[in-house]
Amino acid sequence: MTDMPQLSAAALDLDAIATFTGRVVVFVGEDGKLDQAARRVNRLTKGALERCVAGDAFSKLKPGDSVSLAYPTGVAATGVQVIRLERRPSVAQARKAGGAIGKGLGKGGALVLAGTLNHAAEVALGAALRAYRYSEMRSEEAPEQGDITCMVSKPDDLTAALSGIEALAGGVYFTRDLVNKPANVLTTQTFADLLEANAKLGLKVEVLEEPDLEKLGMNLLLGVGVGSETPTKVVVMEWNGGGDEPPLALIGKGVVFDTGGISLKPGAGMEDMTMDMGGAGVVSGVMQALAARKAKANVVGLVGLVENMPDGRAQRPGDVVTSMKGDTVEVINTDAEGRLVLADVMWYAADRFKPVGMIDLATLTGAIIVALGHENAGVFSNDDAFCAAFLKAAEAEDEGAWRMPLGEGYKKLLKSDIADVKNIGGRWGGSVTAAEFLHRFVPEDMPWIHLDIAGVAKPLGETTLAPKGATGWGVLALDRMIRDTYEG
Ligand code: BES
Ligand code: MN
Ligand code: ZN
Repeated sequence: MTDMPQLSAAALDLDAIATFTGRVVVFVGEDGKLDQAARRVNRLTKGALERCVAGDAFSKLKPGDSVSLAYPTGVAATGVQVIRLERRPSVAQARKAGGAIGKGLGKGGALVLAGTLNHAAEVALGAALRAYRYSEMRSEEAPEQGDITCMVSKPDDLTAALSGIEALAGGVYFTRDLVNKPANVLTTQTFADLLEANAKLGLKVEVLEEPDLEKLGMNLLLGVGVGSETPTKVVVMEWNGGGDEPPLALIGKGVVFDTGGISLKPGAGMEDMTMDMGGAGVVSGVMQALAARKAKANVVGLVGLVENMPDGRAQRPGDVVTSMKGDTVEVINTDAEGRLVLADVMWYAADRFKPVGMIDLATLTGAIIVALGHENAGVFSNDDAFCAAFLKAAEAEDEGAWRMPLGEGYKKLLKSDIADVKNIGGRWGGSVTAAEFLHRFVPEDMPWIHLDIAGVAKPLGETTLAPKGATGWGVLALDRMIRDTYEG
């Protein structure tokens, strides 16, 4: 799995600035004033910093953006990165500034002269997140990354904050690694193995195998996997850091590859379906983060791991399958498989754990990308207060989330001629009919949120805090929601 750069805090040591051989980072606000450390950098570089700050390029920067001086004379550093940031930035601005540090992080590491900057820990989080590189599939050695040292006025406070930051970033790294892995490497088996290894953090991890799932009657889930050689599994991860209260349940779609099955997808772009386990990836990352920071809450994460393949034994369009709940489902399109996976796992989660609420995550529909692009995940819920708590957390973490409707009219579109329900609702409102299908597998009165992350799990290019590839969207928002709602 991908290593994170070391984060550490240190007291301000002006003499260390001249001899540091990596990148030196300074922050300058709109007024152009230099703090003590920046003045030292300026003096050592014979005024280069001042000239930079007085220049055009600097004046055009938005908060959190930067310009760099390469190999300035007077210091041993490979460069001085000058970040435009006020002393009291917003959390998002501080993380963005960190993102600039992480993006440019090289072998020599970074010496971040943060001084009395507010939210230095958020800068470190942004740097750690943006420093992520997925390189395990390349034959050449991964480019080395040095450590990130923040020199601040209160190093002990920052040191204390950094352990929480590392737990969170570690969760995001785990999610990204899972989502970035190709499907021949991340099979249901290797996925389950990686989750079992996380028992070392104090998580209780249990793997349900096909015979267990048959006994439970999870035929919707099993039906998706019958065409594949890799066995269908459900992994249950429990974190019991709270009292005796019932847990929050997180449920993830873990389709390790989605060919569409007999309703085969077109070839162009099919390789993107390695990310169809994104929901399970986020659930796994959140559970890891909760355990790593020893959260004072009870949370259970369940992931349905399965591969959707065409085969002589594969499920056919028109097949009717009985769910664990007992409802019969007419499978009109075998490519609408995510909802079949989630339906049984959600029902099982509710039945076994009697949770206070359920949140499912899935790369469920192309239709949510048509609606919201790559900026926002679709949020569907049967409970306004529960939903508001999530939206607030997502907003605070700057993870795009937009509420979408549910309703009888959409639900009607799922009427089957021969069974209780069919698995697709036709061309229009595809993300909503998918959500209404799931709704059917939520017990009455159970607060529930469905997050359709098809557009945000792995967008087309880089984002502020992630290189091109998996983002880990949702790990930060869910961790915050758990902290704010269940750890008070
Ligand atoms: N995994 C896909 C959804 C998806 C599409 C995720 C693009 C990420 C990017 C899902 O299983 C699927 O195939 N959905 C179909 C549903 C349709 C058959 C009703 C879709 O969106 O086309
Ligand atoms: Mn599909
Ligand atoms: Zn899918």
